[in-house]
Amino acid sequence: MAGRIPESFINDLLARVDIVDVIDERVPLKKAGRNFQARCPFHEERTPSFTVAPDKQFYYCFGCGASGTAIGFLMEYDRLDFVEAVHDLAARVGMTVPAEAGAGPGAKSGEAARLYTVLEQAQQYYSRELKDHPQSERAKKYLKARGLDGQTAAAFKLGYAPPGWDSLLKALGTTPEAVRDLEAAGMLVPKEGTGATTGQSRHYDRFRDRIMFPIHDHRGRVIGFGGRILEQGEPKYLNSPETPIFHKGRELYGLFHARKANRQLERLFVVEGYMDVIALHQHGVTGAVATLGTATTRDHLERLFRATPEVVFCFDGDEAGRRAAWRALETSLPLLGEGHYVNFLFLPTGEDPDTLVRKEGAGMFEDPARFTPLSDFLFDTLSAQVSLATLDGRARLVDLAKPLLSPVPSGALKQMLAQRLSRLSDLDLRTLAPMVGGVRAPSPRNDARKGRSTAPREGRSLVRLAITLLLHVPSLALRVERAEQLVRSGQGGADLLAELIAFVQSNPDVGSGALVEHWRDRPEGRHLQKLLAQELATPADGVEAEFLAAIARLRDLVHKTMCAELARKPLKDLTEEEKSLLRQLSAPEK
Ligand code: UTP
Ligand code: MN
Repeated sequence: MAGRIPESFINDLLARVDIVDVIDERVPLKKAGRNFQARCPFHEERTPSFTVAPDKQFYYCFGCGASGTAIGFLMEYDRLDFVEAVHDLAARVGMTVPAEAGAGPGAKSGEAARLYTVLEQAQQYYSRELKDHPQSERAKKYLKARGLDGQTAAAFKLGYAPPGWDSLLKALGTTPEAVRDLEAAGMLVPKEGTGATTGQSRHYDRFRDRIMFPIHDHRGRVIGFGGRILEQGEPKYLNSPETPIFHKGRELYGLFHARKANRQLERLFVVEGYMDVIALHQHGVTGAVATLGTATTRDHLERLFRATPEVVFCFDGDEAGRRAAWRALETSLPLLGEGHYVNFLFLPTGEDPDTLVRKEGAGMFEDPARFTPLSDFLFDTLSAQVSLATLDGRARLVDLAKPLLSPVPSGALKQMLAQRLSRLSDLDLRTLAPMVGGVRAPSPRNDARKGRSTAPREGRSLVRLAITLLLHVPSLALRVERAEQLVRSGQGGADLLAELIAFVQSNPDVGSGALVEHWRDRPEGRHLQKLLAQELATPADGVEAEFLAAIARLRDLVHKTMCAELARKPLKDLTEEEKSLLRQLSAPEK
């Protein structure tokens, strides 16, 4: 998402807006030294640990770890998405967001606005028909038979599409423009092979004689519908097609209602059906969403984790349910850690959340002891596929687990997953760690004594130091040449450091907050925010020297690594490039 609005625009915007004003309007701030403070709006606390730093244009909370720029603050506090937050801030300072960043990919924002309008009209029309249409008794009876109360039906704005081929068309398609917009919104289907001369209408209603479930985006705008047949028949559910404003791989049914009903969402349940979301809601489980007949995508998960720290996937306990759960697990792996948790709730065979909550109430959904943590599901599933009693079986376990653990971002969870794999497979963590990456393994004592392992450890802290200093004073990057070579130091994070330097070099005016903002949607984003939240131990006038010293030390490591590599080649085999590289490596910083 962030990619659609030009980086330069975000930088300009964050340079013009003052984060102190933006936050102070919502959470009154008190001056405290160079910074401002308040009680954190994102967690309960008595003493203020929420801090806004005007020099960094960045906020952070020492209590709960919340942090970000003015954009991030609006996203969290006003519950906006990235593009909306940018629009709000731009409006404050009189800037216009470049056009292509408007309403979403492929949508001219004028068209999008028209589609929202006709879909809102369609929703109101279907609601009216559920009340008034002569044939709507059947629909009402159906909903009642499914245990739905009127209040819940109204909250989800359920409706009824009457039978007949042109009910909606007649009610709303009163001008050629309206017909065109209804078709673009997926509500009317063009007839095949009708000539313009017949005088007949060339469209018919997509939804006929169905219970209508409007699908809302996170701001509560109607972006599409699902329609359920009243009796048996195919398809049971008919959904709006993909349109410029409706993308099944991104939207989650019920997310708007879940966020409206809960200031803080402790967790979100992901279920399969419209009726599951609604029945759970009616029984007090207001944090449930459904994917729209598709598997959960990474986009879905990113959205979910913006709203809550914990996602609980609900699946049928049968074979198909477990397969679907496994797919959800695979999609979740790259997003785990950093305060993101995934659990599974396996339902008794033959039940879905709708039938279960009506029979047994909310109990099963309110008791975390009933949830299966992702790590248990993962290792139980893999262990069932191999024989842990044999060496070969345990080796196979490692082979199966490797590609699953690798994408997990490094952190406590990954560390524990690796430790568990190590225990199960009987393979020591030192051997395992490099296979999955980003895991710490204890080094044998005598290695440390010989000093062999100090170089990488020093390297890692150097990278961290250099990144921290750079985030606080981005202009430091302008003092570094050939930053891409730092990657050859072989140190974790050196590629990120090089990337940060390159970014500042092409955006020399970027501020601290804006710099971190560009990594928001990347796995390293949270980490960078934490580093920027730290107060520097170095006094302001020593920062540059310390940074350049760290870069110089890293270059030493590059030099050593390269020399070791090149030393294995006879001098006459060195290419010109390698020779010049060796020369450059010994050149001092500017
Ligand atoms: P299910 O077939 O499990 O139905 O489809 P359900 O949700 O339990 O429906 P009820 O309880 O009989 O009303 C799960 C989800 O898959 C999508 C819908 O989003 C549905 O809610 N689906 C299913 C379709 O899109 N089309 C279909 O024909 C069937
Ligand atoms: Mn069902």
